[in-house]
Amino acid sequence: FMILLKNLFNIYLIKKMINKDFKRRRDFLISKIEDNSIVFLFSGLEKSRNNDVNYKFRQSSNFFYLTGINNPSLLLIITKIGNRHSTTLVCDRPNDIDKIWHGQLPSKSSYKNEFGIQNVLYFDELSSLELNDTKNMYFEFADENRLNEFIDNLNLTQPQSRYLRNNTSRSTKIDLSNLIFDMRRIKSKSEVSLIRHAAKISANAHVNIMKSCKSGLKEYEVEANFIKYCMSERCQQAYPAIVASGKNACVLHYTKNNAILRSNNLLLVDAAAEYDNYASDITRTIPISGKFNEFQKKIYEIVLKAQTMAIKACKPGKTLIDIHNVAVKYITKGLIEAKILTGKLERNIKEEKYKKYYMHNTGHWLGLDVHDPSSYSNNGKPIKLKPGMIFTVEPGIYINKETGIDKGFHNIGVRIEDDILITDSGCEVLSRDVPKSVKDIEKLMSHA
Ligand code: GLY
Ligand code: MN
Ligand code: MN
Repeated sequence: FMILLKNLFNIYLIKKMINKDFKRRRDFLISKIEDNSIVFLFSGLEKSRNNDVNYKFRQSSNFFYLTGINNPSLLLIITKIGNRHSTTLVCDRPNDIDKIWHGQLPSKSSYKNEFGIQNVLYFDELSSLELNDTKNMYFEFADENRLNEFIDNLNLTQPQSRYLRNNTSRSTKIDLSNLIFDMRRIKSKSEVSLIRHAAKISANAHVNIMKSCKSGLKEYEVEANFIKYCMSERCQQAYPAIVASGKNACVLHYTKNNAILRSNNLLLVDAAAEYDNYASDITRTIPISGKFNEFQKKIYEIVLKAQTMAIKACKPGKTLIDIHNVAVKYITKGLIEAKILTGKLERNIKEEKYKKYYMHNTGHWLGLDVHDPSSYSNNGKPIKLKPGMIFTVEPGIYINKETGIDKGFHNIGVRIEDDILITDSGCEVLSRDVPKSVKDIEKLMSHA
């Protein structure tokens, strides 16, 4: 019983800590916006799939980042006027229809207590919201139509409506998205633990796949295996799984996942869990038979070497371009050694000859979104890596059927992808629990 009590208390503490995170982010945003401003931030909306059926709801990442709330149809309004600021959440009034069909909507007090928001109003109570003239309006430009519609729907007899209508024409409009994207580039302690957890679940799911892989399975059966494990650990998919056997692996975002696994082929699985809205992103490429043939092994070892060297270069002060250049160097070197490219290393790099076989970037930011939207440069300069940044390192080689290249290499696609956290002294590989050396993979698969 004491253990249960202790666990409950821990969960309570973690929740409190995370709530403080959201409050801190709102405070930071307030410190970043100009004085004399009003901020509008909409939550995600339910999307209709067909009559009475919606797509599964996923909160807008920016809204979640600032509130921790996972419900649709909300609006956050922040005002900052002469060092005084106030934060208001606007939501739908609880009603019988929701109570019957979807479960009752949260009450005002539950929003206040659970999420620590100062003021909560229902959409039909907006007239009690005090608004003054502001010089600046911040909102996500992608939501401009929604904001206009919201303002149009306000009752013109309310002073707020007049104020807002005047303001939309008069104030300086500033895109809120980029401000929040900038904040999202460096992860807090609790964000790091969530991504670490998502990566851990994904890693286990990849290991399960390696253990159960065999010829004759369908790609979608492998996908089902992956999803089943994630769901049983309360995770969603961070993106549609890419389960690509044989030549399908040369299609970078292949998601049909309907082919049959053949024993002489490789299987590329790019799949990962999302936990509490935080993504991971892992790719492994394995031999369906459990053993790489010499051609597969050659390509695999090139990609692994490129990935290992690229990860070694991940430390504070470097940029993602530096990391990419390391991967490109080792990919190109390997392709020359395998006689797939000819000539000098420098020339092949300069003329981008490798791009025929390695045509994507080596990494991207990772966070609430699998391709986290923070910008990669600032005033034209690439962003320097700092502790708390998380990104992927995912080099690959994709060889279509092509004359002049040994047949053994035809239709081989290999990618190896891990999730990297920058630390004070270097980096931590958050997805390190999935084997990736030829030896370790073959060993794990032989125990199937
Ligand atoms: N899963 C998509 C990517 O690796 O970027
Ligand atoms: Mn990726
Ligand atoms: Mn991926």
